[in-house]
Amino acid sequence: VDLTSLNTLGFSVCAHRYVAIRSARELSSYFKAYPDEDCFVLGGGSNLVLTRDIDATVLHMQSRGVAVYEETDTHVVVGVQAGEIWHDFVMASVARGWFGLENLALIPGTVGACPVQNIGAYGVEIKDALHKVKAWDRLTQSWVWFDNAQCEFSYRDSVFKHAFLDEACTQSRYVISKVFFKLLKDKTQWQPKIGYGDVATRVADLAAGGEVTAVHVAQAIIEIRSTKLPDPKVLGNTGSFFKNPIVDAALAAQLKTTHPNAPMYPQPDGTVKIAAGWLIEQAGFKGLRDGAVGVYEKQALVLVHHGGGTGAELMALAQRISAAVFTQFGVRISPEPMVI
Ligand code: EPU
Repeated sequence: VDLTSLNTLGFSVCAHRYVAIRSARELSSYFKAYPDEDCFVLGGGSNLVLTRDIDATVLHMQSRGVAVYEETDTHVVVGVQAGEIWHDFVMASVARGWFGLENLALIPGTVGACPVQNIGAYGVEIKDALHKVKAWDRLTQSWVWFDNAQCEFSYRDSVFKHAFLDEACTQSRYVISKVFFKLLKDKTQWQPKIGYGDVATRVADLAAGGEVTAVHVAQAIIEIRSTKLPDPKVLGNTGSFFKNPIVDAALAAQLKTTHPNAPMYPQPDGTVKIAAGWLIEQAGFKGLRDGAVGVYEKQALVLVHHGGGTGAELMALAQRISAAVFTQFGVRISPEPMVI
C-alpha cells in the first residue's frame, strides 16, 4: 500500500499491509485476532517522517464521533473518537460555545494523536483541557484509562511517546481510541489567552469593539498560522520540525550576553526555552533549498518537501542544521516528529 497521501510530508513509501479501523470494537477485535503482529498506528500522518517502507501493518484510525458525557451549568465533558479531525473538532466546540481549545485551531492531525505529543500553540497545550484518554493496552490486551496526571504531559511529550512493546521502540504499547476533554461552558469564567505575540491585536480587530468570543480567538489563530506555516496540502511539512530547546540557566545567560535579541522563555524550574526558529535563522538556513527538501522561507522551524524527495534527504538536512546550530551556539536541537 502506498502511503504518499497519508503523510503530510508526502514521502512515497509503502506499507506491508493496510487496515482501516473505524471503531473501538474493530480496534480491540484486530488486536485480539493478531496479538503478535507488528502494527503501526497512523492518524493524520502530520507528525511523521517516513524514511523507509513500513514492514508492518498500518492501522489507520478512522473512528468518528463526538459525544457529551457530562454536562453541568459551567462545564461539559466530551468524548471524541481518535479518528476525528482535530481542527474540525476545535471549530465545532467553539461554535457550540465551549471554551478551552480555541488557541489550538488549525493544528493538523487527528484527535487520537493530540495527547501523544501534547500539542500546543499560542500559550495553550492540550494538557490544559484533557480529562482522560481511553487506549488499548497491547501488553495486557485490555482497555485502559489515563487521567490527566497519568498522561505525564510535558512540553511536546507524554507517556504515550515512551511506552513500547519492543526494545527497538517500533511497537507502541498503547493505542489511543478516545480522548475526553473538559471544556468550559460558562462564559463569565472564561479568560481568553491572548498574551502570545500579536494574538491580542488580531482578536481586538476581529471583535471590532464588541464582546470577544472564542470564535474571534480561533479566527485570529487561524489567520496567524496561515501567514507563518505552510498548508500541508500545498507544501509537504510537519509543522515545527524541531522542538524549542530547553537549556540550563548558565548557557542561557551566556547566550544572552553574546546575542541580546535571542527570544528566550524562562521556565518555572529555572531552565530557559530558546526559540529554535531563531537559532536556525541565525545559522543561515531560513528559506534554504537543498534539492527536493528545504527550510520554509517564513518560519525556519519548519522543514518542507517540494516533491520527489525522500525522508532520508530531509533527515540529512535536519542533521546539517542541528550540527550548525550546535557549532554556533552550543545548543542541541532535536526533531519533534516521529521518524521511521
Ligand atoms: N523566530 C525567528 N525566526 C524564525 C522563526 C521564529 O527569529 O524563522 C523567532 C520569532 O521571531 C519569535 C520566536 O522565534 O520571536 C518564536 O517564534 P513563533 O512565535 O513563530 O513560535 P515558535 O517557537 O517558532 C512554537 C511552536 C509552534 C506554535 C508556535 C506558537 C514548537 C516546536 N513550536 O513555534 O508549534 O504554533 O510556537 O505557539 O514549540 C508545531 O509544534 O508544529 C508548531 C507549529
